[in-house]
Amino acid sequence: MTTAHESPASEAQISVHWREEDYYQPPAKFIGQANATDPGIFRRFDEGHFPDCFKEYADLLSWDAYWHTTLDTSNPPFWRWFVGGRLNACYNCVDRHLAADRDKAALIWVPEPEAEPTRTITYQELYRQVNEFAALLREDCGLRTGDRVTFHLPMVPELPVAMLACARLGVIHSEVFGGFSGTACGERIADSGSRILVTTDGYYRNGQLVDHKAKADEAVRTANGLGQPVDKVLVWRRHAGQYASRAAMVDGRDFFVDELLAEHHRAVVEPVSMPAEAPLFLMYTSGTTARPKGCQHSTGGYLAYVAGTSKYYQDIHPDDTYWCCADIGWITGHSYIVYGPLALGTTSVVYEGAPTYPDAGRVWRIAERLGVNIFHTAPTTIRMLRKLGPHEPDNYDYHLKHMTTVGEPIEPEVWRWYHDVAGKGEAVVVDTWWQTENGGFLGSTLPALQAMKPGSCGPGVLGVYPVIYDEDGNTVEAGSGKAGNICIRNPWPGIFQTIWGQPDRFEQIYYAKYCRNPKSTDWRDWPYFAGDGAVQAADGYFRILGRVDDVINVAGHRLGTKELESASLTVDQVAEAAAVPVIDEIRGRAVEMYVSLKPGMAPTADVEHAVTAAIEREIGKIARPKNVWIVEDMPKTRSGKIMRRVIAGISNFADVGDVSTLANPEIVEEIRHHIQGEKLAHGEVPRQLTREEADEIRAFGRDA
Ligand code: PRX
Repeated sequence: MTTAHESPASEAQISVHWREEDYYQPPAKFIGQANATDPGIFRRFDEGHFPDCFKEYADLLSWDAYWHTTLDTSNPPFWRWFVGGRLNACYNCVDRHLAADRDKAALIWVPEPEAEPTRTITYQELYRQVNEFAALLREDCGLRTGDRVTFHLPMVPELPVAMLACARLGVIHSEVFGGFSGTACGERIADSGSRILVTTDGYYRNGQLVDHKAKADEAVRTANGLGQPVDKVLVWRRHAGQYASRAAMVDGRDFFVDELLAEHHRAVVEPVSMPAEAPLFLMYTSGTTARPKGCQHSTGGYLAYVAGTSKYYQDIHPDDTYWCCADIGWITGHSYIVYGPLALGTTSVVYEGAPTYPDAGRVWRIAERLGVNIFHTAPTTIRMLRKLGPHEPDNYDYHLKHMTTVGEPIEPEVWRWYHDVAGKGEAVVVDTWWQTENGGFLGSTLPALQAMKPGSCGPGVLGVYPVIYDEDGNTVEAGSGKAGNICIRNPWPGIFQTIWGQPDRFEQIYYAKYCRNPKSTDWRDWPYFAGDGAVQAADGYFRILGRVDDVINVAGHRLGTKELESASLTVDQVAEAAAVPVIDEIRGRAVEMYVSLKPGMAPTADVEHAVTAAIEREIGKIARPKNVWIVEDMPKTRSGKIMRRVIAGISNFADVGDVSTLANPEIVEEIRHHIQGEKLAHGEVPRQLTREEADEIRAFGRDA
């Protein structure tokens, strides 16, 4: 039990107990065709062969010039991979497949409305579209190598086209997830210094044609307000020749892409040969402060890493039909819908809409119709499919060889449904643990060679050596049953290069905690701090427990408590705000906001709605809180810090620990009475938390 005046129990002090799950072995049929079946691969990637082992990944690519130094550690933690090498990412994903595979489908785009025909884009067609859009970016927008461009695009095929067109020019793309608000997009435009925004008029989601262009106007206003002018907004149209948005096109600023493209018919743009270390893209993610972090990914190291992990961990062969049902607006989509699969020359399915629209059989119908044999999604989607259509897979004749789960811990029971019912017991399942910052997988099982264990991602992947440290930097031994902070002892090619424009913060967040010697140029002195709690079983498999910083993982989306709180504080009446996670059956975690009001302000439903509206406006609908609670005051330490873990305990009907040393201990009972009373009145049935859930809630908000 923790007390309020000391920091909450370090992860290492929390003993975690769970039932050891039985192993599942890969089916013989899978092993018979797998890319990695020789156990010698573990030796080739062991520490004795680091960093040169990654030559095996880099050799999956076509290089214009080979590198002279595999890993340059002279300026830690700014690692440089494949130094001296030159390549073009678009050439690797498109051009080089033309000779043998020009007629093969590169992308199969499935619109959400079932009556609308599926669009197949062959490698030849992709080549044509990418070249024409690259010509437009270069000639109409004046973009050059090193410039940044922001996309605010949903799951339309124009998104991979735009990404590859930028890669062709050496222009750095920064895709903002389509579900983010215009304001959130504008902040990212300003942070990255983009003067071009690429968007669309609308897209289908849950049966609705969503008006998306309106967000662009808000984004441009926000960026302008932050001192970043946007010269041009390029608008793709969801339906050729028709404009689906109610927002007016701004003369001289907004252009329909299809009209501009008419001028670039049959254009061919030579791929620009880029240094391996040139940035390929930015991907913004959340952390402990309100300012989002633009994770900068490299060209050579990143592409080699996603190609290698796609080949061995996704088991992608050129003749597979691979479907990653994630959004390209997140890192999973960049690495494992676009860059990894296309680098290997396979067929990648892109689905526009919601996985359960119009019913819980949709995903399985798509799998049957397209002959999908590799399927990749997040636990939230799996939980939803299981809840809404537990027997739906039986109704469809599809056969998967391989399935992936990513983004959140998966409950063993849900894992078993995924394996037994969704996968019909025919497929291997890989649970892949990693982060936006990492480029590709960090913890998983090599599918033909390592048994699966529900709820555990597996050991470190090839060439990645994880370790668990306690707060003092001591190693927490495998099999000790103790949790701690999972770190990676070594750099790997997919690791991000820096936080765009914030190199000090990069070093501070990810390396300062366990750096043994800031002057050292030996990578062994610079473990990477991932920000996740984990436990390692005696067999070396890791079980990821969740974030140890102030990040809430809602349906696999990272939301920073500070971002939620700053958004709430934009409401006039609000004096203080605190965001906490609540355990949610489908989404894993949901957010509850606690706010206290300025003196004299009335606690009305209008204020609650205004807080929700502010969060939707500043971040997006994905961040909408489950509840907004207006309280008299927040539980605080004597130094005035809000004790988020105390209110998190209340929200989850869990133990709040010793609160006797708070500045205002009496408020805890008052809040508990008020909030839990309302929850019970609204029919919420308190559930006994598992030991791990209780530990997570108790450790939440350590820095608040
Ligand atoms: O807490 C971990 C969780 O998601 C976080 C990373 O989120 P994001 O950067 O949005 O990337 C998600 C997709 C790569 C991690 O810090 N997480 C990710 N994968 C898993 C996971 N938790 C448990 N098991 C996983 N397989």
